[in-house]
Amino acid sequence: MAEAVFDLVVRQARVATAADTFAADIGVRGGRIVAIGEGLAAGSREIDAAGRVVTPGGVDAHCHLDQPMEGPARMADDFLTGTRSAACGGTTTVIPFAAQAKGQSLVAAVQDYHARAEGKAAIDYAFHLIVSDPTPQVLQEELPALIAQGYTSFKVYMTYDDMKLDDGQMLDVLDVARRHGAMAMIHAENADCIEWLTKRLEAAGRTAPRFHAHARPMLVEREATHRAIALSQLVDVPILIVHVSGKEAIEQIRWARSHGLAVFAETCPQYLFLTAEDLGIDDSYHGAKCICSPPPRDKSNQQFIWDGLNDGLFTVFSSDHAPFNYDDPAGKKPGGEEAAFRHIPNGIPGLETRLPLLYSEGVLGGRITLQKFVELTATSPAKAYGLHPRKGTIAIGSDADLVVWDEHELTVRNAQLHHAVDYTPYEGMQLKAWPALTLSRGEVVWDGTYRGRAGRGRFLRCDAPSLLPKRS
Ligand code: URP
Ligand code: ZN
Ligand code: ZN
Repeated sequence: MAEAVFDLVVRQARVATAADTFAADIGVRGGRIVAIGEGLAAGSREIDAAGRVVTPGGVDAHCHLDQPMEGPARMADDFLTGTRSAACGGTTTVIPFAAQAKGQSLVAAVQDYHARAEGKAAIDYAFHLIVSDPTPQVLQEELPALIAQGYTSFKVYMTYDDMKLDDGQMLDVLDVARRHGAMAMIHAENADCIEWLTKRLEAAGRTAPRFHAHARPMLVEREATHRAIALSQLVDVPILIVHVSGKEAIEQIRWARSHGLAVFAETCPQYLFLTAEDLGIDDSYHGAKCICSPPPRDKSNQQFIWDGLNDGLFTVFSSDHAPFNYDDPAGKKPGGEEAAFRHIPNGIPGLETRLPLLYSEGVLGGRITLQKFVELTATSPAKAYGLHPRKGTIAIGSDADLVVWDEHELTVRNAQLHHAVDYTPYEGMQLKAWPALTLSRGEVVWDGTYRGRAGRGRFLRCDAPSLLPKRS
């Protein structure tokens, strides 16, 4: 038998990158891709991928795992269950959020978050920061130091009482992003409008889950998106608007681009596959399962998201996995009771279903190309957050994070998912593909059975985002 030259060879793959699809073998040594070619020499281990599409492992650049919450709510997924679930759905890198509580030091939030991840993560991970209290100490010392240490992106909120910044604070943090070369991610919804609408709905007794969508119409997202763009223009810094839900925010981003502004955008599966009706057509409480912010819009809006995925409006397709159990006093039923929508934790699970949904309905549904799929789910997120080319592509020197796809009919069932959440919003949906294999740094972590191991995931320091202009 020929002596093994590689630790692993993936044979006869239909390799898909953000640029091309081509037939090749992939040779892996020491967890990295060291050869791509025809008829590669033997590997100690061989995977026959004949006829199968092989994409880079997904980079989920927006997910929440074990994030400390205000009040009684607790996230259902920690780094163990969350990264397990990600791996089983083809994702090999996650970027959750080290969130600063008001009054807390940002450095302490990062230390705490490392403790939550260590020994648990089964795939590689980086951290975004959430800045909720931009004190002089944070702006002048902590944030610049953390950016230099490899935490090169941070999220700010224009809504949620425990997180939101006013416009002056937004300008302050955007200025830090500009001076220190970080990517500023913005949750754009107008907090005062939401509060005003919520109070009016409550006064009218309209507190069922479906009224969450009435309290957060497109207008409040559109206004905040426009304001965020104006603030970034004032500071002269690129921004990335996260979880864009539809037409009106998209129009603002198109306007910004047409004026030469560097405004990037992210969207998520819930805006393609759910509608406001999933929050309830009557006052039934089941709609709580689909409460997230911004909320899903109407059916006709979904086409605007598909168009934006196709034509470059969106740079990143993330899950915004924010895992709360439905039937749980720490989840969607605060204190064990059916609550008014104001008190229901925002967020839905989606780490494991993100790639199969987009591959099935986008690529196999003829709505996006395979190249666009790779770009949106792996390559561009890695570039946006300083992880490329180590992550997000299939190239010599990149980590051997790979997904071998199996195209077959299946039905999504929560019982078959690997998160710790007691539901999926996509229960019963018919899909056309699921990963047959997920490899993380050349190790099989999913082959129809979860093969990962708690603690094998490594923390990734992020470089300067390559989508940002180079600083001299
Ligand atoms: O409803 C959502 N999106 N929950 C997660 C937190 C956030 O704002 O991304
Ligand atoms: Zn958000
Ligand atoms: Zn989020």
